[in-house]
Amino acid sequence: MKFFIDTANLKEIKEASDMGILDGVTTNPSLMAKEGIKGNDAVIKTYIDICEVVQGPVSAEVISTDFDGIVREGEHLASLHEHIVVKVPMIKEGIKAIKYLNGKGIKTNCTLVFSPGQAILAAKAGATYVSPFMGRLDDINYDGVELVEQIVYIYDNYGYTTEVLAASVRSPLHIIRVAEAGADVVTAPFSALVKLFDHPLTDKGLAQFLSDYKKVQEAEKSST
Ligand code: E4P
Repeated sequence: MKFFIDTANLKEIKEASDMGILDGVTTNPSLMAKEGIKGNDAVIKTYIDICEVVQGPVSAEVISTDFDGIVREGEHLASLHEHIVVKVPMIKEGIKAIKYLNGKGIKTNCTLVFSPGQAILAAKAGATYVSPFMGRLDDINYDGVELVEQIVYIYDNYGYTTEVLAASVRSPLHIIRVAEAGADVVTAPFSALVKLFDHPLTDKGLAQFLSDYKKVQEAEKSST
């Protein structure tokens, strides 16, 4: 399973990239706003900066909702850097635009997907990625992981090549559950990614090994 980080924060992206476990980045307008990025030029600069840090796909979201606007924006975003994947909302005009952009060799990520039916449409249109939003479903008492399982099952039935990109991750457990479900990619906030490192027995075991090795060194000193 590939690991993408779900942020527009360059410091977090660099840190995750330095860990050697980062395969790509997803962003959205809310994540841009959260970083205090102001104006279109600053957004474009952020995309380019991210693309230069990460050796992998970087999802950049369109804000148009009509076919012509989505295509215009998508072609512009794709021209910024070879790593750019155009993120398009799951609406009729979006599906038409995904089909068109796919035909032009431009990679797309169909976002705001909340049902298996929407995921089938994204695959039929030739989206490179489909993004089921797990956390937002959990928030309204639907099972987000179950949606990922359904999409993986359906895509396997028909050999669809669209990659299942589990999004709207809230916790490290979400990451593990979608890995079990067979998601191709998970995009997670930095906070959830780094929690995968944590285990109290690792901390306890390491402290014990280091303290025992100190005893070995002290024993050597006292014997010389
Ligand atoms: C990523 O592609 C999505 O935009 C993101 O995961 C949404 O996450 P949220 O539900 O935490 O806003």
